[in-house]
Amino acid sequence: MELNFKRVPEADMLERSASFYEELRKRRTVRDFSSDPVNLDIIDKCILSAGTAPNGANLQPWHFSVVTSPEIKAEIRKQAEIHEHKFYNGGAPEEWIDALKHLKTDESKPFLELAPVLIAVFQKATTLDEQGIERKCYYAKESVGLATGMLISALHQAGLATLTHTPSPMGFLNKILERPTAEKPYLLLVVGYPTDTCEVPDITKLPLEKIRSIH
Ligand SMILES: Cc1cc2nc3c(=O)[nH]c(=O)nc-3n(C[C@H](O)[C@H](O)[C@H](O)COP(=O)(O)O)c2cc1C
Repeated sequence: MELNFKRVPEADMLERSASFYEELRKRRTVRDFSSDPVNLDIIDKCILSAGTAPNGANLQPWHFSVVTSPEIKAEIRKQAEIHEHKFYNGGAPEEWIDALKHLKTDESKPFLELAPVLIAVFQKATTLDEQGIERKCYYAKESVGLATGMLISALHQAGLATLTHTPSPMGFLNKILERPTAEKPYLLLVVGYPTDTCEVPDITKLPLEKIRSIH
């Protein structure tokens, strides 16, 4: 099929790349969510954006479970806090706990119940191809990482805040969300609006000269 690609004048490209950066640099991980509901049509469109990601052999090794049920969110919080309690009380190496100190995170995860939407991202080990044949997914981890990055960007640009949450281990998500064991929980995205008093850690991003070289 014909590629749908139109060249853009260079001045516009400069402007577009700069304004995309200006938008993305406003994204921050939020840990203080309001319970205001979110229209799920917005979430669905953002998931469709994630599903456009490049991926190994186009096997699209991802599944997104959208959770709004208060009962299921409460169960996810309960299980996550059990694991986080272990993590923060001897389960994680001191070095890891040290690296987290500046973020002031702890084992309490009220946002898992307060935020209106949770999106559990799963990574498939195998999937059915267009002919219905079961195929091993190649580069599944990389592919799901790319799709998740696009999902976070789409949610941000739609006007929503996110928290990338990785309770460790995350196997309980398969049980609660009734996903097959061949799907590995990748991460849990908490989605909604920040509270009016929400604060974020005072962190900086590396400047260009520290993250790229020219050859
Ligand atoms: C794979 C991954 C796992 C993360 N897990 C957690 C988590 O479990 N809890 C949390 O509070 N933040 C978590 N974060 C968020 C990071 O702490 C955050 O992205 C980082 O501090 C940079 O801040 P920013 O997102 O506001 O730029 C995670 C981020 C990534 C990419």
